[in-house]
Amino acid sequence: MTAFNSTSNYGENAFIKNKPQMLQNIYNTTDVFPYWIADMDFQVAEPITQELNRLVERGVYSYEFSEQEVFEALSQWYSKRHGVSLSADKFVQVPGVLSGIALLLRQFTNEDDGVLIHTPAYHQFSNLVNKANRQVVQSPLCSDKQGYQIDFAGMEQQIIEQKVKAMIFCNPHNPTGRVWTSQDIEQVIEIAKRHDVLIISDEVHSDIIFEGHAFTSLTNFDYDKVITLIGSPAKTFGMHSISNGYVYTNNDELFEAFKTNVVAMYLDHGNAFSTFATVAAFEKGEEWLDGMLVYLQDTVKWITEFTEQRIPQLKVFQPQGTYQMWFDFSGLGFSGEELKNVVFEQAKMGLTPGDWFGAESPNFMRMNIATSRDNIEQSFNALADAIDGFERGSHTRSICCDSGASKSCC
Ligand SMILES: Cc1ncc(COP(=O)(O)O)c(C=O)c1O
Repeated sequence: MTAFNSTSNYGENAFIKNKPQMLQNIYNTTDVFPYWIADMDFQVAEPITQELNRLVERGVYSYEFSEQEVFEALSQWYSKRHGVSLSADKFVQVPGVLSGIALLLRQFTNEDDGVLIHTPAYHQFSNLVNKANRQVVQSPLCSDKQGYQIDFAGMEQQIIEQKVKAMIFCNPHNPTGRVWTSQDIEQVIEIAKRHDVLIISDEVHSDIIFEGHAFTSLTNFDYDKVITLIGSPAKTFGMHSISNGYVYTNNDELFEAFKTNVVAMYLDHGNAFSTFATVAAFEKGEEWLDGMLVYLQDTVKWITEFTEQRIPQLKVFQPQGTYQMWFDFSGLGFSGEELKNVVFEQAKMGLTPGDWFGAESPNFMRMNIATSRDNIEQSFNALADAIDGFERGSHTRSICCDSGASKSCC
């Protein structure tokens, strides 16, 4: 077994995902294993721990601003991992990816402007847009045998009809696990150019890419209205509570305007822990990341094989990246309440309900798989048993296979 199989013993109430009140609110029970939030149970790479220990042992916390070191490390990382050349002088540090998007929306769009997202979409995107008093414009993805695709014609129509001024483009896509190809991105950019739409590209999952797929950064394309939330170490290295966000654009005008705004609010400095841990992660964490990617892919394989045998009616979308897996339970024919009962209460799996990601996904659920295989195996066995038990019980249900949650176009 690899290091990833022994997940940290962090105590029951340590993190948001375990907080009883949180679980009670979401699942109506506290007795579930938390697969809902997109963070990791794995111990971070040793160089990160060493760096944090160094700072603690030093015991002196004088001001130190070393963001430039982070930008250098990030641009080297993007060059090495993704073949993209980024200038270390064109980054702006922000407190996190979401706060970065919130700031960008407020600065570069106006109240009531339409902001397009591809649904099912990471639920915080619509929260961000709503809280900025902009209008969420959904562009539903469509699914075929290959998985989810962008409905380009539908997207363009929405842009025209809903007066869209900006789009939040998520690559790799949360929750579906799609890694958009350069052809996909070219088409998105062509449409954005035609209608002068600002693209806010969220690349936070850019390093979690599975074999056979390649990540393409939007920083690589010839369109000057692109602002990118460069992958932060949060997702890549499991530094969710100790990392910042990094905004990048090749457009000098947008860069200067955004930087001026962020500096004016004194939001551009991280603390020493996040700064030096981030540098250590990008400079010395590659081997750990490669090990984790192998572990995650083996987990996906295990889940796929297990469900094919024990729960064949469950549709498993093969993730091309991210550590989120997206499942369609429609084929099991449960009502919404039955599904929750089987998954949450009987199998004790705290999956994220699909309707978080778009109102029409009640039969879908997302699972964070960045935990030990032992946990995963235990949960899926419990799920299969719960489904078998349900079938043997007095309940009747109609088997159906189309929830209508995703359009089958493209
Ligand atoms: C696509 C995406 N963007 C942003 C975030 C959150 O980033 P941060 O914690 O840096 O705000 C997440 C977390 O799950 C995410 O999946």
